[in-house]
Amino acid sequence: MSRFCPVYPKPLKNKASLLSMFLRGRRSWLDVLFERSYRMKMGHSKLPGLDLYMINEPALVRKVLIEQAEKFPKHQLLGQILEPLLGESIFTTNGEVWKRQRRMLDPSFEQARLKTVFPLMNAAAVAMQQRLDALTDGAVHDVDIEMTHVTADIIFRTILSSPLEGDDARKIFDAFVRFQAMAPRIVLPIIYRLPAWLTSWFESRQGKRAAKEIRGLLERFIRERYDAHQRGDAPAHQDILASLLNAVDEESGTGFDFDELVDQVAMLFLAGHETSASALTWALYLIAMSPDIQERMHAEARAVLGERDPEFSDIKAMDFIWNVFRETLRLYPPVGFFAREASETQQMRDKTVQAGSTVIIAPWLIQRHRDLWERPDEFDPDRYAGDSAKESLKCAYLPFSLGPRVCMGAAFAMQEAVLILARLVRRYRFVALPGQKPRPVGRLTIRSENGMRLAVHKRADFTK
Ligand code: HEM
Repeated sequence: MSRFCPVYPKPLKNKASLLSMFLRGRRSWLDVLFERSYRMKMGHSKLPGLDLYMINEPALVRKVLIEQAEKFPKHQLLGQILEPLLGESIFTTNGEVWKRQRRMLDPSFEQARLKTVFPLMNAAAVAMQQRLDALTDGAVHDVDIEMTHVTADIIFRTILSSPLEGDDARKIFDAFVRFQAMAPRIVLPIIYRLPAWLTSWFESRQGKRAAKEIRGLLERFIRERYDAHQRGDAPAHQDILASLLNAVDEESGTGFDFDELVDQVAMLFLAGHETSASALTWALYLIAMSPDIQERMHAEARAVLGERDPEFSDIKAMDFIWNVFRETLRLYPPVGFFAREASETQQMRDKTVQAGSTVIIAPWLIQRHRDLWERPDEFDPDRYAGDSAKESLKCAYLPFSLGPRVCMGAAFAMQEAVLILARLVRRYRFVALPGQKPRPVGRLTIRSENGMRLAVHKRADFTK
């Protein structure tokens, strides 16, 4: 059965000129893609400040991300953008610094910890329902705001054991929007070797100010707990901060100092809510446009959960909802591309990739690649039910990346998404306006340019 093809920016017929790439890229990097980008195995663009290779071929992707990961460290440009907000956090570091951070952070995301934080996630999902109930008036509302709120709230509760509400929530969201908006404006002058004062001074100041506001708020929450831990009278908490405060690197015998702790919490906050919010918003768009799929999700949530509160063990029992989210991550991967730097000269296909070149791996392209997926632009959660997508899943599905730098929060993200979606479809029906066409834009994550306006109807057959 042919399914609905959700929106994506129409690729250009041919590669754009440098000027056009610059102007289009300011708004969204998705707008500089052209038809061959979705068919090629590997591409090359020479920009004034960057020699850039785009890799789509699965064997080369494995080489960069898994087999020779140490030879392709994270690109320093990402660090430059995120440094004001994340400091020296695991998301951008390389080498020994990264290894120590990963050793110390990994235990916070083990299965046992996910089970422990499940009730905290659930409490945030209940608070989300209370906010959504106020929106069931028949009018359309921006559900992106709600998805951003609930995912940020989940991070706050699971890391800090504190809800994110009222004034704090407003301040932090507003600062994040400003921080996101400045990212491409900082990067483009570097890529195109323009004088920095020409385009990025104002944005850079704005970005730094926004980052300072976010860090200030997080520091307020962390300071008290850190000091109590140093004094040896820390209250018993089951959250991720407790695990970070106790983390000791086996090799060096050291823990995180205060600044390192703020860096890691800021990073978990950014990596953990921005990505999930993006994916959940796209999931709501997809199911609003596919009422039959939404009804099947509703039926599954009711069959598994009835009217009771979800439990940890329910998450894996909701296969169909799980597959809807998987398909959402294929069509709208929140992290649309990963940037690496070749640390030595290498031959790749017919190209000599010089040391210092930039290597881009883009789930956005690979997961819509014409040769790697059947019906690549169709929304079809059932493709995962049989064996037909097995090969594609194995070689061309990487929303959480692959290899040693794989997303540390992948299981956390799947758990929260299935929980939230199950609660949403059990209680509400989401309806899109006729002809609705959101516009995907690629910035730090792939978001809908003007939010996502949907009508939210409370279902007559369910109250919980
Ligand atoms: C749908 C939600 C999410 C998606 C699609 C996602 C995706 C990714 C991707 C693609 C990377 C690798 C980026 C790169 O190599 O450049 C990454 C890294 C990371 N993610 Fe996620 N993520 C999600 C949610 C989360 C959550 C909820 C957390 C934690 C609460 C988290 C924590 C991290 C961390 C710590 C890293 C850095 C790992 C390292 O470099 O060693 N992510 N994520």
